[in-house]
Amino acid sequence: MSVAVITGAASGLGRVLASEFVKAGYQVAGLDIQDQAPLHGVTAWKVDLTDSDAVRTTFAEVRAMLGAPTVCVTAAGIYPRSTLVDATVETYRAIFDVNVLGTLLSAQAFADVVDELAQNTLVTVSSVDGISPFSKSVLYSASKAAVINLTSGIAEELAGRAIRVVGIAPGYIATDRVIELNGGRHNLPVDASDPTEIAQACIGLTRGGGISLLTGQTVTLRRSALETPSLSND
Ligand SMILES: NC(=O)c1ccc[n+]([C@@H]2O[C@H](COP(=O)([O-])OP(=O)(O)OC[C@H]3O[C@@H](n4cnc5c(N)ncnc54)[C@H](O)[C@@H]3O)[C@@H](O)[C@H]2O)c1
Repeated sequence: MSVAVITGAASGLGRVLASEFVKAGYQVAGLDIQDQAPLHGVTAWKVDLTDSDAVRTTFAEVRAMLGAPTVCVTAAGIYPRSTLVDATVETYRAIFDVNVLGTLLSAQAFADVVDELAQNTLVTVSSVDGISPFSKSVLYSASKAAVINLTSGIAEELAGRAIRVVGIAPGYIATDRVIELNGGRHNLPVDASDPTEIAQACIGLTRGGGISLLTGQTVTLRRSALETPSLSND
Protein backbone atom coordinates (compact mmCIF):
# COMPACT_ATOMS: atom_id res chain seq x y z
CA MET A 1 0.00 0.00 0.00
CA SER A 2 1.33 3.48 -0.83
CA VAL A 3 2.25 5.72 2.07
CA ALA A 4 1.47 9.44 2.35
CA VAL A 5 2.87 11.79 4.98
CA ILE A 6 0.50 14.63 5.87
CA THR A 7 1.77 17.41 8.11
CA GLY A 8 -0.66 19.42 10.23
CA ALA A 9 -2.87 16.32 10.41
CA ALA A 10 -4.49 17.10 13.77
CA SER A 11 -6.98 19.62 12.42
CA GLY A 12 -8.38 21.56 9.51
CA LEU A 13 -7.07 20.87 6.03
CA GLY A 14 -4.43 18.39 7.24
CA ARG A 15 -7.01 16.21 8.96
CA VAL A 16 -9.26 16.20 5.88
CA LEU A 17 -6.22 15.42 3.70
CA ALA A 18 -5.38 12.48 5.97
CA SER A 19 -8.92 11.14 5.73
CA GLU A 20 -9.17 11.61 1.93
CA PHE A 21 -5.76 9.99 1.28
CA VAL A 22 -6.92 6.97 3.33
CA LYS A 23 -10.08 6.79 1.17
CA ALA A 24 -7.82 6.97 -1.90
CA GLY A 25 -6.03 3.82 -0.72
CA TYR A 26 -3.00 5.23 1.10
CA GLN A 27 -1.62 4.40 4.48
CA VAL A 28 -1.20 7.80 6.10
CA ALA A 29 1.40 9.08 8.54
CA GLY A 30 -0.12 12.12 10.27
CA LEU A 31 2.38 14.57 11.72
CA ASP A 32 1.40 17.36 14.10
CA ILE A 33 2.59 19.17 17.19
CA GLN A 34 -0.82 18.52 18.74
CA ASP A 35 -2.41 15.23 19.76
CA GLN A 36 -4.43 13.71 16.93
CA ALA A 37 -7.81 12.09 17.50
CA PRO A 38 -7.70 8.52 16.14
CA LEU A 39 -8.57 8.22 12.45
CA HIS A 40 -8.87 4.93 10.59
CA GLY A 41 -5.82 4.30 8.39
CA VAL A 42 -3.77 7.08 9.97
CA THR A 43 -0.72 6.51 12.19
CA ALA A 44 -0.06 9.63 14.24
CA TRP A 45 3.30 11.17 15.13
CA LYS A 46 3.55 14.07 17.57
CA VAL A 47 6.37 16.26 16.30
CA ASP A 48 7.34 19.91 16.14
CA LEU A 49 8.08 20.45 12.43
CA THR A 50 10.48 23.29 13.25
CA ASP A 51 12.80 20.86 15.08
CA SER A 52 15.24 19.53 12.50
CA ASP A 53 16.34 16.40 14.41
CA ALA A 54 12.80 15.48 15.40
CA VAL A 55 11.58 15.83 11.81
CA ARG A 56 14.34 13.58 10.41
CA THR A 57 13.75 10.99 13.15
CA THR A 58 10.01 11.01 12.47
CA PHE A 59 10.36 10.46 8.71
CA ALA A 60 12.85 7.65 9.38
CA GLU A 61 10.32 6.05 11.77
CA VAL A 62 7.57 6.41 9.15
CA ARG A 63 9.72 4.55 6.64
CA ALA A 64 10.62 1.85 9.17
CA MET A 65 7.02 1.33 10.31
CA LEU A 66 4.93 1.90 7.18
CA GLY A 67 7.41 1.79 4.30
CA ALA A 68 8.92 4.53 2.14
CA PRO A 69 6.36 7.30 1.57
CA THR A 70 5.62 8.32 -2.02
CA VAL A 71 3.66 11.46 -1.09
CA CYS A 72 4.22 14.28 1.38
CA VAL A 73 1.78 17.18 1.77
CA THR A 74 3.04 20.00 3.98
CA ALA A 75 -0.22 21.37 5.37
CA ALA A 76 1.06 22.46 8.80
CA GLY A 77 0.93 26.22 9.04
CA ILE A 78 -0.04 29.11 11.27
CA TYR A 79 -1.71 32.37 10.34
CA PRO A 80 -1.77 34.92 13.17
CA ARG A 81 -2.82 38.36 11.98
CA SER A 82 -0.02 40.93 11.62
CA THR A 83 0.14 44.42 10.14
CA LEU A 84 3.26 46.56 9.76
CA VAL A 85 2.31 48.44 12.93
CA ASP A 86 1.74 45.44 15.19
CA ALA A 87 4.24 42.94 13.72
CA THR A 88 6.77 41.74 16.32
CA VAL A 89 10.01 39.80 16.09
CA GLU A 90 8.28 36.94 17.95
CA THR A 91 5.38 36.80 15.49
CA TYR A 92 7.78 36.98 12.55
CA ARG A 93 9.86 34.09 13.90
CA ALA A 94 6.84 31.97 14.79
CA ILE A 95 5.24 32.39 11.36
CA PHE A 96 8.41 31.90 9.33
CA ASP A 97 9.54 29.00 11.53
CA VAL A 98 6.39 26.95 11.03
CA ASN A 99 5.44 27.98 7.49
CA VAL A 100 8.85 28.22 5.80
CA LEU A 101 11.34 26.30 7.95
CA GLY A 102 8.71 23.61 8.62
CA THR A 103 8.20 23.16 4.88
CA LEU A 104 11.95 23.08 4.22
CA LEU A 105 12.66 20.50 6.95
CA SER A 106 9.75 18.33 5.82
CA ALA A 107 11.01 18.44 2.21
CA GLN A 108 14.55 17.52 3.29
CA ALA A 109 13.41 14.65 5.48
CA PHE A 110 10.98 13.35 2.83
CA ALA A 111 13.78 13.39 0.24
CA ASP A 112 15.96 11.38 2.63
CA VAL A 113 13.49 8.50 2.97
CA VAL A 114 11.84 8.09 -0.45
CA ASP A 115 12.45 5.11 -2.66
CA GLU A 116 14.18 6.69 -5.67
CA LEU A 117 12.76 3.95 -7.93
CA ALA A 118 9.19 5.03 -7.10
CA GLN A 119 7.19 8.03 -8.40
CA ASN A 120 7.23 10.50 -5.53
CA THR A 121 5.42 13.80 -5.06
CA LEU A 122 5.89 16.61 -2.57
CA VAL A 123 2.92 19.00 -2.34
CA THR A 124 3.55 22.28 -0.54
CA VAL A 125 0.69 24.38 0.82
CA SER A 126 0.98 28.12 0.43
CA SER A 127 -1.93 30.55 -0.07
CA VAL A 128 -3.29 33.08 -2.51
CA ASP A 129 -2.00 35.59 0.08
CA GLY A 130 1.50 34.56 -0.99
CA ILE A 131 0.69 35.82 -4.50
CA SER A 132 -1.37 38.88 -3.59
CA PRO A 133 -0.62 39.92 0.02
CA PHE A 134 -3.43 40.35 2.54
CA SER A 135 -2.79 43.68 4.30
CA LYS A 136 -4.00 42.39 7.68
CA SER A 137 -1.57 39.44 7.53
CA VAL A 138 1.60 40.81 5.99
CA LEU A 139 3.97 38.36 7.70
CA TYR A 140 1.80 35.36 6.84
CA SER A 141 1.58 36.56 3.23
CA ALA A 142 5.37 36.99 3.04
CA SER A 143 5.90 33.52 4.51
CA LYS A 144 3.60 31.95 1.92
CA ALA A 145 5.40 33.87 -0.86
CA ALA A 146 8.58 32.26 0.47
CA VAL A 147 6.92 28.81 0.31
CA ILE A 148 5.96 29.43 -3.34
CA ASN A 149 9.52 30.45 -4.14
CA LEU A 150 10.95 27.50 -2.21
CA THR A 151 8.65 25.16 -4.13
CA SER A 152 10.09 26.21 -7.47
CA GLY A 153 13.58 26.54 -5.99
CA ILE A 154 13.83 22.93 -4.83
CA ALA A 155 11.94 21.34 -7.75
CA GLU A 156 14.92 20.82 -10.03
CA GLU A 157 17.11 19.45 -7.25
CA LEU A 158 14.41 17.03 -6.11
CA ALA A 159 13.61 15.97 -9.68
CA GLY A 160 17.12 14.54 -9.68
CA ARG A 161 16.06 12.50 -6.66
CA ALA A 162 12.84 11.20 -8.25
CA ILE A 163 10.53 13.64 -6.46
CA ARG A 164 8.10 15.87 -8.33
CA VAL A 165 7.33 19.08 -6.43
CA VAL A 166 4.06 20.96 -6.81
CA GLY A 167 2.45 23.64 -4.69
CA ILE A 168 -1.12 24.62 -3.99
CA ALA A 169 -2.15 28.17 -3.17
CA PRO A 170 -5.69 27.96 -1.81
CA GLY A 171 -8.04 30.86 -1.25
CA TYR A 172 -10.27 30.75 1.83
CA ILE A 173 -10.89 27.19 3.04
CA ALA A 174 -13.78 26.57 5.40
CA THR A 175 -11.72 24.89 8.13
CA ASP A 176 -12.92 25.03 11.75
CA ARG A 177 -10.24 27.55 12.67
CA VAL A 178 -11.04 29.90 9.81
CA ILE A 179 -14.77 29.62 10.53
CA GLU A 180 -14.07 30.51 14.18
CA LEU A 181 -11.74 33.41 13.27
CA ASN A 182 -14.41 34.84 10.98
CA GLY A 183 -17.17 34.55 13.58
CA GLY A 184 -19.11 31.79 11.82
CA ARG A 185 -19.46 30.05 8.46
CA HIS A 186 -21.97 32.67 7.28
CA ASN A 187 -19.21 35.32 7.46
CA LEU A 188 -16.85 33.48 5.10
CA PRO A 189 -16.42 34.90 1.61
CA VAL A 190 -18.72 33.30 -0.96
CA ASP A 191 -15.77 31.76 -2.76
CA ALA A 192 -14.51 29.80 0.29
CA SER A 193 -13.70 26.18 -0.58
CA ASP A 194 -14.56 23.06 1.29
CA PRO A 195 -11.41 21.35 2.65
CA THR A 196 -12.46 18.14 0.91
CA GLU A 197 -12.28 19.88 -2.49
CA ILE A 198 -8.73 21.01 -1.72
CA ALA A 199 -7.77 17.52 -0.55
CA GLN A 200 -9.18 15.99 -3.73
CA ALA A 201 -7.14 18.46 -5.79
CA CYS A 202 -4.01 17.40 -3.88
CA ILE A 203 -4.73 13.75 -4.58
CA GLY A 204 -5.15 14.62 -8.27
CA LEU A 205 -1.81 16.44 -8.28
CA THR A 206 -0.01 13.44 -6.85
CA ARG A 207 -1.21 11.18 -9.66
CA GLY A 208 0.66 10.90 -12.96
CA GLY A 209 -1.51 11.24 -16.04
CA GLY A 210 -1.76 14.60 -17.75
CA ILE A 211 0.04 16.53 -15.02
CA SER A 212 3.13 14.37 -14.66
CA LEU A 213 5.23 17.11 -16.25
CA LEU A 214 3.99 19.73 -13.79
CA THR A 215 6.83 20.47 -11.41
CA GLY A 216 7.97 23.51 -9.48
CA GLN A 217 4.63 25.22 -10.08
CA THR A 218 2.18 26.42 -7.48
CA VAL A 219 -1.43 26.23 -8.62
CA THR A 220 -4.11 28.51 -7.26
CA LEU A 221 -7.12 26.64 -5.87
CA ARG A 222 -9.94 29.10 -5.45
CA ARG A 223 -13.58 28.65 -6.22
CA SER A 224 -14.66 31.34 -8.60
CA ALA A 225 -17.37 33.54 -7.10
CA LEU A 226 -19.28 32.99 -10.36
CA GLU A 227 -19.56 29.29 -9.56
CA THR A 228 -21.18 29.71 -6.15
CA PRO A 229 -24.80 28.52 -6.03
CA SER A 230 -26.12 31.92 -4.94
CA LEU A 231 -24.87 33.53 -8.13
CA SER A 232 -25.22 30.67 -10.62
CA ASN A 233 -28.90 30.26 -9.67
CA ASP A 234 -29.72 33.88 -10.49
N1 LIG B 1 -7.91 27.76 6.02
C1 LIG B 1 -7.66 28.62 5.04
O1 LIG B 1 -8.49 29.48 4.66
C2 LIG B 1 -6.34 28.52 4.30
C3 LIG B 1 -6.20 29.22 3.09
C4 LIG B 1 -4.99 29.12 2.40
C5 LIG B 1 -3.96 28.36 2.93
N2 LIG B 1 -4.14 27.72 4.12
C6 LIG B 1 -3.04 26.94 4.64
O2 LIG B 1 -3.48 25.60 4.83
C7 LIG B 1 -2.79 25.04 5.93
C8 LIG B 1 -3.79 24.46 6.92
O3 LIG B 1 -4.65 25.49 7.39
P1 LIG B 1 -5.86 25.15 8.38
O4 LIG B 1 -6.88 26.20 8.18
O5 LIG B 1 -6.23 23.73 8.22
O6 LIG B 1 -5.14 25.39 9.79
P2 LIG B 1 -5.29 24.61 11.18
O7 LIG B 1 -4.82 25.55 12.24
O8 LIG B 1 -6.64 24.00 11.34
O9 LIG B 1 -4.25 23.39 11.03
C9 LIG B 1 -2.86 23.60 11.02
C10 LIG B 1 -2.22 22.44 11.78
O10 LIG B 1 -0.80 22.67 11.77
C11 LIG B 1 -0.31 22.24 13.04
N3 LIG B 1 0.96 22.88 13.38
C12 LIG B 1 1.18 24.18 13.65
N4 LIG B 1 2.47 24.37 14.00
C13 LIG B 1 3.07 23.15 13.95
C14 LIG B 1 4.39 22.69 14.23
N5 LIG B 1 5.37 23.53 14.63
N6 LIG B 1 4.66 21.37 14.08
C15 LIG B 1 3.68 20.51 13.70
N7 LIG B 1 2.41 20.89 13.43
C16 LIG B 1 2.11 22.20 13.56
C17 LIG B 1 -1.39 22.66 14.02
O11 LIG B 1 -1.29 21.97 15.26
C18 LIG B 1 -2.66 22.34 13.26
O12 LIG B 1 -3.15 21.04 13.53
C19 LIG B 1 -1.91 26.14 6.51
O13 LIG B 1 -0.61 26.04 5.97
C20 LIG B 1 -2.57 27.39 6.01
O14 LIG B 1 -1.68 28.48 5.91
C21 LIG B 1 -5.30 27.77 4.81
